[in-house]
Amino acid sequence: MDFTLSEEHLMIQKAARDFARTELLPGVIERDDKAIKPIEQVKRMQELGFMGMMVDPKYGGGGMDTISYVLAMEEISKIDSSASVMMSVNNSLVCWGLETYGTEEQKQKYLVPLASGDAIGAFALSEPEAGSDATKQHTIAKDMGDYYLLNGIKNWITNGSDSQYYLVIAHTHPEKGHKGINAFIVEKDTPGFTVGPHENKMGMRGSHTHQLMFQDCKVPKANRIGEDGFGFKFAMNTLNGGRIGIAAQALGIAQGALDLAIQYAKERKAFGKPIFEHQAIAFKLAKMHAETEASRLLVHKAAWLKDQHKDYSTAGAIAKYYAAESAMYVTTEAVQIHGGYGYVKEYHVERLMRDAKLTQIYEGTSEIQQIVISRALLKE
Ligand code: CAA
Repeated sequence: MDFTLSEEHLMIQKAARDFARTELLPGVIERDDKAIKPIEQVKRMQELGFMGMMVDPKYGGGGMDTISYVLAMEEISKIDSSASVMMSVNNSLVCWGLETYGTEEQKQKYLVPLASGDAIGAFALSEPEAGSDATKQHTIAKDMGDYYLLNGIKNWITNGSDSQYYLVIAHTHPEKGHKGINAFIVEKDTPGFTVGPHENKMGMRGSHTHQLMFQDCKVPKANRIGEDGFGFKFAMNTLNGGRIGIAAQALGIAQGALDLAIQYAKERKAFGKPIFEHQAIAFKLAKMHAETEASRLLVHKAAWLKDQHKDYSTAGAIAKYYAAESAMYVTTEAVQIHGGYGYVKEYHVERLMRDAKLTQIYEGTSEIQQIVISRALLKE
């Protein structure tokens, strides 16, 4: 077993780190405060190839492995998770889903712009009454012969207003349960499709999360992904990889908070010495470091399994569960170590703590990950 990163991996890690420090860090507090989207920064991420990292170069992507992707996700999430969730959804939910299950025509038309940086995509599974219980889709796609008529509402959609293309999950045959669900590619300007206002969120405020409304929205049959009834499997298989991306995001948030806490503990003096030299603080930092290292190993293992074309669904769920829980723990302790300064925006850690909370919720809550993990144990 070799834990060493290759030269190429180190280069990608450095490129993402440099980009995050020079182009994401300036203005990150104001963007969070005023819920301003990182539009210019995401454009740069498109130019630098971060938005379609794993896609085959013949479709305009970077042709990189999942390890490269999680390294970049970690670096970008240390500084700005609003930018990294936009990156993660585009890479692991939209591009991966299209590359793995799309027809050649769909790939040429949609994947090429998404991977090469000309477009952004969104993944629309959740609904007002179907979040964790994802098979209970109320959005209906009625088969009208050569097109589907889409009616319904989607909730909590990342990249909701920034996307050109949306992967939308809907029921075609409700009587068949999850086997009657389909996935569709919907273009932004399709008549009958409207994007609602964005949510006023606790964290990741630069990433805008929207409701999507479909009213008699005509979607060509050619835009269905996979065989009739494949939509739920499509969503689950896609989320298996998405969870690795979010686990890497949680890892980055934790590492970012830990770095800040270490730096602060070395500089801040109390009772005649830097607070790092007080065991109460040193032990906190030791535990935060151990938690973050454990998350990193789980994230890299899940990414490695995916690169080896082995089953990574349980490993991805474990990585997301552990990294999200430990990010919440590490960021909360980072705020505590900063004392009063931790509670104000200038010191970044309160933002990281608010951002960490979302990693326990989206792409499957921590409780859903525990369902996935425990079901796998039953099968063993
Ligand atoms: N991978 C592949 N297939 C899976 C799967 C997985 N992880 N989990 C379930 N399936 C398959 C099952 O094998 C089954 O298929 P068959 O009938 O062919 O055997 C089918 O899906 C139905 O499975 P279950 O009977 O287990 O379904 P369930 O209703 O009991 O629960 C669940 C499944 C795991 C709870 C699932 O509903 C789930 O993952 N829910 C969470 C949804 C989620 O993650 N939402 C996040 C929204 S996206 C988002 O946040 C994006 C964003 O913008 C940031």
